Amino acid sequence: MPSSRFLAFLAVVIGLYFVSRCSRSCSNRLLGGPDVVISEETPQEVLTPVASNSGSTRSPYTRHIVAVGDLHGDIKNAQTVLEFSGVVDSFGNWTGEADFFVQTGDIIDRGDDTIKLFMWMESLRVQAAKVGGVVLSHLGNHEVMNAIGDWRYVYPSEIETFGSVAARQKMLATGRIGKAWAQNYTATSRLPLHPHLGPPNTPFPPENHPVHFRKDDEDGNDDSHYYDATEPLSHSALSFVHGGLSPTYSNLSPFPTKINALSSSLLHKLQNRRQPAPHPPNPYPGLPQGTTGEEIELYDANGPFWYRGWATDPESKACVDVEKVLARTGTRRMIMGHTPDFTGIVSRCNGKIIIIDTGISHAYGGALSALSIHYTFTPIDNEDGEPRWSEREVVSALYVDRQETIIDQEREVVGDFRFDAA
Ligand SMILES: *[C@@H]1O[C@H](CO)[C@@H](O)[C@H](O)[C@H]1NC(C)=O
Ligand SMILES: *[C@@H]1O[C@H](CO)[C@@H](O)[C@H](O)[C@H]1NC(C)=O
Repeated sequence: MPSSRFLAFLAVVIGLYFVSRCSRSCSNRLLGGPDVVISEETPQEVLTPVASNSGSTRSPYTRHIVAVGDLHGDIKNAQTVLEFSGVVDSFGNWTGEADFFVQTGDIIDRGDDTIKLFMWMESLRVQAAKVGGVVLSHLGNHEVMNAIGDWRYVYPSEIETFGSVAARQKMLATGRIGKAWAQNYTATSRLPLHPHLGPPNTPFPPENHPVHFRKDDEDGNDDSHYYDATEPLSHSALSFVHGGLSPTYSNLSPFPTKINALSSSLLHKLQNRRQPAPHPPNPYPGLPQGTTGEEIELYDANGPFWYRGWATDPESKACVDVEKVLARTGTRRMIMGHTPDFTGIVSRCNGKIIIIDTGISHAYGGALSALSIHYTFTPIDNEDGEPRWSEREVVSALYVDRQETIIDQEREVVGDFRFDAA
């Protein structure tokens, strides 16, 4: 039965969702109140708690996410990027400015700093956890290639940092780096913007609580506009992956659990086989005996490690396809690396597709970049007693000498959303 809350939500989604681009500040025109100017850098500072009809205080919630793409063996450039994006200080220690730091894979190959980079990520993970922060790490196609024994992009000078081929094989299989991959890296992740949706990688649709999708259009075959009418925040989440989540990939759902289970089992088989002599000069070893059809599909060109369609397809196709993947993964935008643009971060289809590989490593000499996302969820003072909120997301591309707003979106949602106030 369509409650008034549902109809209100529908009206909000259809009528009030908008994208605005603004460089320094944005007028808070959606809310119809006084022309509050919200500064991008500190959107939360002008927001004050509002008393709800129940008399309790509803507090604003903020979340700050920084994401960085392919690092390829260059710790110096990685330090520069993590420092100007506020993730670390000049000593490389976690600052606490970001709630989440996300790296989308391809730390290895094309440079010498493999060991330093992976060890640094583990120390950041521990430092972050001490102050409530989270580091989300992803396997790229290059990490998996190295686990396979496909060492085509390994610098001889990088092998020397391990001591020998055998020492490198061991460290990537059962040693410090291999264990870190197995324990702390996934193929993809779903990162909620709002804690109401649970911790990172809470599966979508929720387990034991199937989402009842409804269409908001009459077009019979198009499943691109499904949403959960009872849960307005169901897609207030982002996906991260190295290559891309192809619309024709079979194991998108439940997301990200299915992909990550396949990735763990494939990695386990790779790390626990007798390590093959690396290629080159030896023949390409291929995937292990006993690799399943689903694991083969995971690692093929249409799978999440290698897919490039979001970078290469024309927008006429990509912007239709992306809706289907967002609907199935319970997300509003997809963020990935793998296909570099040396001039900067690429946003397509109004920021539903964001590609953050800018060739950061000196091997490419591309732009040093990071993606920053500021999410704010703010109670709105209202007259009808409904618990109204303004949900705002500002996505920016950060560079050494400038920053650019990619997306500044705001909408109104109604509901009782539970979370621990920050
Ligand atoms: C900061 O980093 C340095 C060098 O890695 C380390 O020795 C030091 O313990 C770190 N400080 C904190 C507070 O973690
Ligand atoms: C994985 O991360 C945890 C912190 O979340 C850390 O204690 C652990 O040592 C890491 N594992 C490896 C093998 O580095």
